[in-house]
Amino acid sequence: MKEVKLIIVGFGNIGRRFAEVLEAKKGFISRKYGLGFSVVAIAEKNGSLVNEKGLDLKKALKVQLARNPCWTGRKSLDVIKSVEADIMLELTPGDIRSGEPGLSHIMRALEAGKDVVTSNKSPIALKFREIMEYARKKGCEVRYEATVGGAIPIINLYRNTLQVNEVRNVYGILNGTTNFILSKMSEESVDFDIALKEAQELGLAESDASYDVDGVDTAVKLVILANSLMGRNISFKDVKVSGIREVNSETLDLAKKHGSEIRLIGDVAAMEVSPRLIPKNHPLNISGALNAVLIETDVAGDIILVGVGAGPRETSSSLMSDVLDLGVRKR
Ligand code: HSE
Repeated sequence: MKEVKLIIVGFGNIGRRFAEVLEAKKGFISRKYGLGFSVVAIAEKNGSLVNEKGLDLKKALKVQLARNPCWTGRKSLDVIKSVEADIMLELTPGDIRSGEPGLSHIMRALEAGKDVVTSNKSPIALKFREIMEYARKKGCEVRYEATVGGAIPIINLYRNTLQVNEVRNVYGILNGTTNFILSKMSEESVDFDIALKEAQELGLAESDASYDVDGVDTAVKLVILANSLMGRNISFKDVKVSGIREVNSETLDLAKKHGSEIRLIGDVAAMEVSPRLIPKNHPLNISGALNAVLIETDVAGDIILVGVGAGPRETSSSLMSDVLDLGVRKR
């Protein structure tokens, strides 16, 4: 059985959940695909666990990384370069201004001839062309389904199934945290701060929640969709962004009186993120941490996708789809 070796960089909410899902699905994957996966390193910026024969994930999940007796000061960039592996998973939180540390991790993996799977939006939104061109040059793959829409297959749906279509527009709800907050405020009269705190406790929000609330996260996803589904070459600064801080219980009530809800919408064609009125029975009128995306195409017509848009476990489904697809190619 082919054994695919993985390096996980970033072991926070998403990294840990991914490891749990991988562990839980190991038997199923080996029966169905004749493929084994072993995690040969888990790395953070300033330290790592490394075992070239494969780490015991259950043990690694039991304690905080730095408390593990096998934890060493070997840094992520060194591990990515020198530990033998097929795929590097970049699961650190991103800084939208610099894309770091994810950008350096991704470039280092490609330099070392490793494929990349990531949930980290910032480097993909900031340096899409550079990353993809470098990957091509090195004969490597970069997969990023998990960067947009949590569990919803959008990028791979386009890659694998809608290839022949010209995508004319993509718009919808691309941020689970703000959708969760807006629905809680409207349906349960919960205050903004309490709803935000709940979203943070559920692991939905970014480490800096203003990215969610101020529309930055939606704009970043919009850039990724524009560049990868519509062949654009835009960056974050090209998008007009307003978040949900101005939305209060009065505006939500007023919207309701007119048979609508307020939702934070990203619109690629308009290059805009803004709160908009969505009529009650419109397919984009969804509640909770769900995302809803409308893809307008020339041949297939309109496609609407709805699913869980944030959350470490659901996002792991998208990570697994990329990891599995690359793994199958290596059999
Ligand atoms: N904070 C993001 C959201 C996580 O709420 O949608 C998923 O990208």
